[in-house]
Amino acid sequence: MVDISARERLRLLLGSGAFVLTGCGGGGNNPPSSGSIFQGGGGNPPPPPPPPPPPPPSGNTELVPGLLRDTFRNNFTVGTALSNQRVDAMDPSAQLALEQYSSITPEWELKPDVIQPEPGVYNFSEGDRVVDWALENGMEVRGHALVWHESMPAHFYQGTPVEIRSRLEEYVTTVVDYFRGRVTAWDVVNEVVSADVYRGADGIGPDRRSEMFNAIGSADYIDWAFRAARAADPAALLFISEYDTETQLKRDWLIEILRRLNSRGVPIDGVGHQFHFFLDTDPNQALAAIDAVDNEFLGLINHATEIDVSFYRDPGECWQSRTNCLADLGVAPPPEMLAQQARLLRDLFDGLVMRSSVESVSFWGVRDSDSWLNSSPVERTNYPLLFDRDAQPKPVFHAITDPNYEI
Ligand code: XIL
Repeated sequence: MVDISARERLRLLLGSGAFVLTGCGGGGNNPPSSGSIFQGGGGNPPPPPPPPPPPPPSGNTELVPGLLRDTFRNNFTVGTALSNQRVDAMDPSAQLALEQYSSITPEWELKPDVIQPEPGVYNFSEGDRVVDWALENGMEVRGHALVWHESMPAHFYQGTPVEIRSRLEEYVTTVVDYFRGRVTAWDVVNEVVSADVYRGADGIGPDRRSEMFNAIGSADYIDWAFRAARAADPAALLFISEYDTETQLKRDWLIEILRRLNSRGVPIDGVGHQFHFFLDTDPNQALAAIDAVDNEFLGLINHATEIDVSFYRDPGECWQSRTNCLADLGVAPPPEMLAQQARLLRDLFDGLVMRSSVESVSFWGVRDSDSWLNSSPVERTNYPLLFDRDAQPKPVFHAITDPNYEI
């Protein structure tokens, strides 16, 4: 059983499209002035009813029951990460992507270490291939990610804060302008919330002390990136992307950062919740992350951006020193674990469809063999996605597309 937020219940009682003004933090119904959805507050007439659900992307006009994209067509776009190598080979994952999904996130081709490996150099060829393939097949594109500490070459941090700012603004402007009209939504910043949650109250937050943070002495790079992206493509939706928002402390720090961005009028359209789960993740905690954004920043969009379910909840030392990691489960995982994965994502999707702020839901890969979790934190067989290594739908696929499927 999944929770439905009080606000969503009220929204449903008031009828679709009726928004309840927020108590704080902006939101509300004012049209964004600085491009930020945050310019809210103050009594306003109820907004007009929401427009009808968008028509299917041009390439996917036929409604086919049981397909992911059509099962949720009136709720949200369903997408997946996909890399050039799969597109070039038109491997089973690319073929399933064409059949089942209506949004593509290039897995690594739009990251800074690919686009700008050297100062002043721009390599768009990798991104162009997967972006244009998606568009040619009627799919939307989520751009990931303009700023991510795990993929920013050192030259981004060289020089004074003024030089770093100028270089970052030039990079974001150039990249967003180049893909203008082709990328629907950008993860402008990725994983900028402190990872110190494991120290609890002793944790230092809300901002990650990344190389960028340390190079300029603050998290102002977040503001710079959003403002440059908005200026470069006013039509693109701009997201702050984060993992572990299903963890209370991480979620609290994210909200604290959103409040700061709001107070500065930073243009932002939504939150991308990565939702990298384990089998024992509580789906209601993930839904609470959506509600936390809704409850304070009504009007912000929520995307689930990188869903997968790892079959290994390793101890910390496995992540820190690759020791004491759980043993490989082998080629065929235990059926009970597959059933647990199915129950988890059925409950998650039952909750997501009840939350109208959720406009896109993406998985981080198509087949289990695609997943980054087969090599992170260690080389090991994982089973995190909807399709098995033979491109067959798993119990979890049926659980979310067929309400009558018995897990
Ligand atoms: C991962 C890709 O899947 C890997 O292929 C790559 O080597 C490293 O990055 N969170 C994110 C994604 O935001 O960008 C990461 O993607 C997975 C974790």
